[in-house]
Amino acid sequence: MLAYSLTDTAEMRVLEPAYAAQFADFIERHRAHLAPWLPWATALTDEPQTRAWLQRYADDTARDGGRIYGIWQHRELVGGTLFRTFDTRFRTAEIGVWLAPDAQGQGLITRAATRMIAWAVDERGINRVEWRTVPGNAASIACAKRLGMTLDGVLREAFPHQGENHDVQVYSLLAAEWRAMGRR
Ligand SMILES: CC(C)(COP(=O)(O)OP(=O)(O)OC[C@H]1O[C@@H](n2cnc3c(N)ncnc32)[C@H](O)[C@@H]1OP(=O)(O)O)[C@@H](O)C(=O)NCCC(=O)NCCS
Repeated sequence: MLAYSLTDTAEMRVLEPAYAAQFADFIERHRAHLAPWLPWATALTDEPQTRAWLQRYADDTARDGGRIYGIWQHRELVGGTLFRTFDTRFRTAEIGVWLAPDAQGQGLITRAATRMIAWAVDERGINRVEWRTVPGNAASIACAKRLGMTLDGVLREAFPHQGENHDVQVYSLLAAEWRAMGRR
């Protein structure tokens, strides 16, 4: 996949280390929007750190593990998605997502995540796709539900972030449910 078209103006590509400067700039501009939910948005504060973080994903991908993608609209990096985990042995994968504030409300993440699920399930034999979020993240929960996911349960205080131990809701979509939905 060099680029996957999401809309007439937006596309998704692997967020390679070569995009470290763009991604570092994206984080810098949108830190306040991302940091309440995403630890890396606080941790990554310069280009070398960002490059090293993307390199870890590149190395993980080379081992058939996690993956990270960027979303560009009108040639500007406006968001991204990742397989935080991608485990072919247990046939499970977890999706994470983010967008710049102005890029919200267009269905970009729904389209990108749908493509990721299709690839993971139909091409790679993944049986269970997970989505984890804190209970207060209404936009993220709406995404999981829009993708047809079901709430499995809550991992109590599983996410230490910004000085608090947050509960984590775990949503999932199973391969059989995905096939029954008939989406692509
Ligand atoms: C979570 C986040 C990515 C969701 O973004 P989003 O824009 O709501 O999600 P999508 O791109 O799927 O767009 C869905 C929205 O577009 C609308 N939409 C328009 N066209 C659409 C289409 N063709 N398909 C789906 N939705 C569409 C939907 O109605 C929805 O808007 P609404 O919430 O006002 O009803 C975003 O809020 C974000 O980056 N938050 C900060 C980071 C974060 O919390 N990440 C998740 C951590 S668990």
